[in-house]
Amino acid sequence: MNRPLPEQQLIITVQQHILHKQKEHFPTASGTFSWLLSGITLATKMIESKVRRAGLLDVLGAAGGAGDTNVQGEVQQKLDVYANRALLHCLGVRESVAVLASEENELPTCFNRGEAGKYIVVFDPLDGSSNIDVNVSVGTIFSILARPEQHDVEDPSREALQPGYKQVAAGYVLYGSSTMFVYTTGQGVYGFTLDPAVGAYVLSHDNMRMPEQGKYYSVNEANAEGFPPGYRNYLHQLRTGELGREYSSRYIGSLVSDFHRTLLKGGIFLYPPTPSHPTGKLRLLYEASPIAFIAEQAGGVATDGKQRVLDIVPTSIHQRTPLMVGSRHEMAALAKCLAE
Ligand code: AHG
Ligand code: MN
Ligand code: MN
Repeated sequence: MNRPLPEQQLIITVQQHILHKQKEHFPTASGTFSWLLSGITLATKMIESKVRRAGLLDVLGAAGGAGDTNVQGEVQQKLDVYANRALLHCLGVRESVAVLASEENELPTCFNRGEAGKYIVVFDPLDGSSNIDVNVSVGTIFSILARPEQHDVEDPSREALQPGYKQVAAGYVLYGSSTMFVYTTGQGVYGFTLDPAVGAYVLSHDNMRMPEQGKYYSVNEANAEGFPPGYRNYLHQLRTGELGREYSSRYIGSLVSDFHRTLLKGGIFLYPPTPSHPTGKLRLLYEASPIAFIAEQAGGVATDGKQRVLDIVPTSIHQRTPLMVGSRHEMAALAKCLAE
């Protein structure tokens, strides 16, 4: 007898969702890709459990000092080092991974897996890590690329240098007041909230859309004097109501958090060129590009001030870029200011 499940059991986990979407769009998919993504969800649950205990770990660490062995015999690690190891470990054992590139490693790791190694994963293991010590939200960002048909036999890591529009998937995890996994494979953006009681990411934000206009702008105002004139002019317009709305400012200093708010509430996030970072501060491959893919899939816009972020062809793994991302309305007004 088929009895309907009680309401509270009708949950969709991220794994179910990926498998379902794969079947819908790629009926012949082998499940390799969902297995790969499960490596990311597993690693981020490991990271989340450490992030949630960050204050406690600091207390334990204070007894011996950084790098020493704590009372439980564990070597104290900085969280970004731990996050990097968790991702390298969980993804490194997936047969489909050919190259792993991380913010924390100067050189990517390449695996010799022949035809089975179909994917390249690029990630920022812990984004906004300066916020960890003050109990403010941090995140993890990832981007998945397919290995090109023409393999670079000499140096497979160069295969990661693909423009963002070629991404197979991108996403982030936000370790905030709750932990959320947000991803796209190019068929919309979906958000899952970690249910700590179950240990699963559960669909909570179906087909996320960025509002056409918002009321927040997000920028490190301390840098404003050094921005090129177009950006200064635009900020002036935002502050004075010239764009037809009174704006408030919000800036956390974790890209994942600042973007997540922009995705949900609309508005704009800016990290323009500055005198100390003339080509921008944020990293193209594992910060700007995945965020731009998600933004566009949610109906938003992302540029480097001159062109679409997803069209930039990278020349190096750790390349930086200016990043402006947000709602259509605010991004159109910015484009106008920058063109003047
Ligand atoms: P990370 O912690 O991975 O190095 O990234 C920090 C980044 C990003 O999260 C944030 O948007 C930006 O740095 C903040 O920079 P400022 O402190 O210069 O505003
Ligand atoms: Mn970062
Ligand atoms: Mn980082």
